[in-house]
Amino acid sequence: MRISAWSLRLTVLSLGQWFRNSLMREQLEEIRERALAELGDDAGDAQIEAVRVRVLGRSGELTGIMRRMREAPPEERPAIGRLVNEIKDQLEARIAALVEIRKREAMARSLNAAALDVTLPGARIARGSLHPVTLSRERMLDIFAAMGFEIIDTQDVEDDFHNFGALNFPADHPAREMQDTFFLPGGMLLRTHTSNGQIRVMERRRPPLAVVCPGNCYRRDELSVRASPMFSQIEGFMVDRAGAVTMAHLKGVLTEFLRAFFGSDTGVRFRASFFPFTEPSAEVDISCLLCKGAGCRVCKQSGWTEILGSGMIHPNVLRAVGYDPKEYQGFAFGMGVERTSLLRLGVDDLRLFFENDLRFLEQFRSASEGAL
Ligand code: PHE
Repeated sequence: MRISAWSLRLTVLSLGQWFRNSLMREQLEEIRERALAELGDDAGDAQIEAVRVRVLGRSGELTGIMRRMREAPPEERPAIGRLVNEIKDQLEARIAALVEIRKREAMARSLNAAALDVTLPGARIARGSLHPVTLSRERMLDIFAAMGFEIIDTQDVEDDFHNFGALNFPADHPAREMQDTFFLPGGMLLRTHTSNGQIRVMERRRPPLAVVCPGNCYRRDELSVRASPMFSQIEGFMVDRAGAVTMAHLKGVLTEFLRAFFGSDTGVRFRASFFPFTEPSAEVDISCLLCKGAGCRVCKQSGWTEILGSGMIHPNVLRAVGYDPKEYQGFAFGMGVERTSLLRLGVDDLRLFFENDLRFLEQFRSASEGAL
């Protein structure tokens, strides 16, 4: 076969073109291979971006090939173009997949960093509860309310008349002295007992009355095991037509109250005493809760603990509120709430009630939930 110079030339030419074509394909495959190798599973964000710019960027390798498309014979150009597009799509897909993986990893990392350690002990939300003295006061008031007593609040800041004068305190009574009473500017004072409640209520109401007045009281005492400059009392009184409310009723009401509060086996003793605002007056003792009357250190071997003051309302007190003592008669009593709850709860130091140490207060939590 004779090969003409032309055809030889053509053959050489097409060989050259073939060579260039195959070189382009080779280059494309190389670009693909290298890029895929660099886009391995461990490729970081920076490397992914570097590959993207180098291969797919505006002046990247694939663009470079496209620019040299002229060098390829026209019939080859579509195939090379398709290859370029195929590689471009493949690399773009790979990059998108990798970016997604890295994004998820970053998310997982940040979630992990902020994750809750479920094995850590939880932070307890402290539940509040009522103060033991408040609980005792409410129990006391409940018992009186059940016996038909009304609960009426009266004032802490009082004048001399309602705290002393109307209660038949003589002018020279020691309680009226500075050393016992907190006097306020302007002739007022902090009430030293809740007995002002008798006067305040009787002044504006007519018998029959059965009332308890809870409230804070103030005396110039140092805070100690037994005393506090501020404490609370419950005052109670019952007034009705003369003869309708007697000392027997006083004994009945108080015995009933004390047995309800301290227990039905509690011994109750009435002992003659003195208060300016009652006549006759009686202090009331209960059998010692610790030794049940046998005698111990707490009751100083007597078997009894003093718990409240009481008596028949003095005629002068009735007169002071505008009642005629021939027409009306009544009894009154008053007791310290802290002291009474101290005995009930078996607490031996009054100061514990005021220090607000949660370790102490929390012991009575169950009581605030109705267990006491
Ligand atoms: N007010 C008296 C006190 O504080 C208690 C009391 C009240 C006594 C009522 C008799 C009648 O000690």
